Amino acid sequence: MTQDEILREMGLGPVWKLRAKAAAVPAAESMAPAVTEPQQEPAPPAAAADKTGLSWDELASTVAACRLCRLCEARKQAVLGVGDRHADWLFVGEGPGAEEDLRGEPFVGQAGKLLDNMLAAIGLRRGADVYIANAVKCRPPENRTPTPEETATCRPYLERQIELIQPKLIVALGRPAAQTLLQSEVKIGAERGKLHDYRGIPLIVTYHPAYLLRTLQDKARAWEDLCFMRRTMKTLKGN
Ligand code: URA
Repeated sequence: MTQDEILREMGLGPVWKLRAKAAAVPAAESMAPAVTEPQQEPAPPAAAADKTGLSWDELASTVAACRLCRLCEARKQAVLGVGDRHADWLFVGEGPGAEEDLRGEPFVGQAGKLLDNMLAAIGLRRGADVYIANAVKCRPPENRTPTPEETATCRPYLERQIELIQPKLIVALGRPAAQTLLQSEVKIGAERGKLHDYRGIPLIVTYHPAYLLRTLQDKARAWEDLCFMRRTMKTLKGN
């Protein structure tokens, strides 16, 4: 896909032109855990146990079997994340939707297509120096926003992922991801364009791709955010 095609796909026209050539977007590699059918009653909402020290494999099997909140009841499978486990870039979304729940990979539906195009527009592609995860690992029914209890219960999994990946930069896509990571009320419009901090790791908040699909007028702002991310990463890498 050419850069122009990518930008057209995003509905951005010439406004989102970057001089650097964007990479093509290949099919994403799935790291989906096995499908698990819920067989037992979920535990009442509770803070997840200490995840300190879990390896990737232990984390993946713990998440696949997790029954710490009600989201396990209707899921087909938990969706841990996808990508380079030592990536410089970590993108965090809200939670799996119907397609992600089926395929076991984050951002594979319409919003995912836009996310892939956003990545491509700044020279990134899924799986190559990028890891994609969600604030909650199981699909909220009817694609509703996860509750604060659900994000709090799931947060230790994300925290452990971040410890394992050690990204240079975290990008929070939308409010639930931003609030989960920053542990405070966030309005994206007010907090975008700033460099935040997650335990010493720079963090940028921007609009969720699903929101951008509905709100064309904010795509130009999202483009500014992408440019800001790219500049920030260049500085972090010292070039
Ligand atoms: N929206 C998200 O926030 N995450 C996904 O994985 C898919 C859609």
